[in-house]
Amino acid sequence: MHITFLDHPLALHKLSLLRDRGTPVILFRSLTEELGLMLAVEATRNLSTAATLIETPLEQINCQMMCGPDPVLVPVLRAGLGLVPAFLKLLPTAKVGHIGLYRDHESLEPVPYYCNLPPRLEERTLYLLDPMLATGGSAAEAIRQVKDAGAKSITLVCVIAAPEGVARLEKDHPDIRIVAGAMDRELDENGYILPGLGDAGDRIFGTI
Ligand code: PRP
Ligand code: URA
Repeated sequence: MHITFLDHPLALHKLSLLRDRGTPVILFRSLTEELGLMLAVEATRNLSTAATLIETPLEQINCQMMCGPDPVLVPVLRAGLGLVPAFLKLLPTAKVGHIGLYRDHESLEPVPYYCNLPPRLEERTLYLLDPMLATGGSAAEAIRQVKDAGAKSITLVCVIAAPEGVARLEKDHPDIRIVAGAMDRELDENGYILPGLGDAGDRIFGTI
């Protein structure tokens, strides 16, 4: 499994603001979008381009343009929705699917409640969006769902990953790629990432 972390001073700075418990909802949401743009630049390195003839005002030139079927974004509800605007800014023709999962508070197991995916997943580059990779249960289940629907090229995009979640995906889905903002230390006894940023969905949608 291939994993890449954002290694950029702006990403470190924005991630620190995101972690701060005093950061209000509006700022949290815009920081998620700004980090989402950086994650999108890194995640989309795997897109294919092909030489295409175009005419500048001065001459003809063969330039590289994106080719192949439109990529697909799949946010994991709810928190994954926070990364969608940034990815759509860079990939305006992307299709958008949705997977609804929540973590049972006692067992920490993912509970699926919604799945709507676009057709022809086997031909598309897929970006699964979820800011938090904690135990890895939610991501493992979402990846299983997109694989069952045909997806082959899968990149999980998250803001913070925990070592436990990365290990889980290495075991369950070694063929995927992860692009993450940072790797944190560990999980607490309730499955929250330490130091982390708290509950991403609650902080994005103001439901604390
Ligand atoms: C959060 C987060 C991930 C999941 C990660 O969602 O957005 O989907 O937890 O935890 P895991 O790696 O241990 O499975 P949550 O269940 O809180 O749902 P929400 O986004 O609707 O709040
Ligand atoms: N989900 C979150 O939103 N935050 C965590 O720390 C773990 C799971």
